[in-house]
Amino acid sequence: MIDIGGNLGVLMTAILTAHPRLRGVVFDLPHVAPQAARRLAEHGLAERCQVISGDARQQVPAGADCYLLKMVLCDFGDLDATAMLHAVRHAITNDGSLVIIDKLRRPPRRDDATLLRTTMSALNLLVMTGSLERSQTEYQQLLHATGFTLADTKRTDALDGELYLLHARPA
Ligand SMILES: C[S@@+](CC[C@H](N)C(=O)[O-])C[C@H]1O[C@@H](n2cnc3c(N)ncnc32)[C@H](O)[C@@H]1O
Repeated sequence: MIDIGGNLGVLMTAILTAHPRLRGVVFDLPHVAPQAARRLAEHGLAERCQVISGDARQQVPAGADCYLLKMVLCDFGDLDATAMLHAVRHAITNDGSLVIIDKLRRPPRRDDATLLRTTMSALNLLVMTGSLERSQTEYQQLLHATGFTLADTKRTDALDGELYLLHARPA
């Protein structure tokens, strides 16, 4: 499994701990990689997890069964998000999986605190970065344009139900 934009490897540590036969790669920008490598080593995972640095808009390592993008695409507009997904499409095998974990933008409702939080976070992203959390339809379109099919969408318990998991496969 490759965690693109995997930061210090917190999620990868949890996944590798839960699945002792799995091997991982944390991929992130060059200034993040050394700290991620140190953290993974401290957790005894240096043998099972490589840290590779680069720009995911250009290229990501090939050959993994599963590519994970958690809370990364929401930070980017469609141009950069498309470049990242093209890079993954180029690297992934035809029977591989792409897992995107992000908030999904949905119409807000006054009586739904989770939806209101997601809307506030979307506004925050828009003001601070010019980006915006995507709706499920927007993800579908982005995936379709980059050679993937959305196979499944699940709501998770994370962030009080705000995070969704989208499972896509090469089309
Ligand atoms: C919001 S953080 C999410 C970190 C982690 N996936 C999580 O859920 O906690 C975004 C991560 O993407 C990384 N990142 C940003 N641009 C990137 C790029 N062009 N290529 C690779 N990683 C990138 C950042 O360094 C950061 O670690």
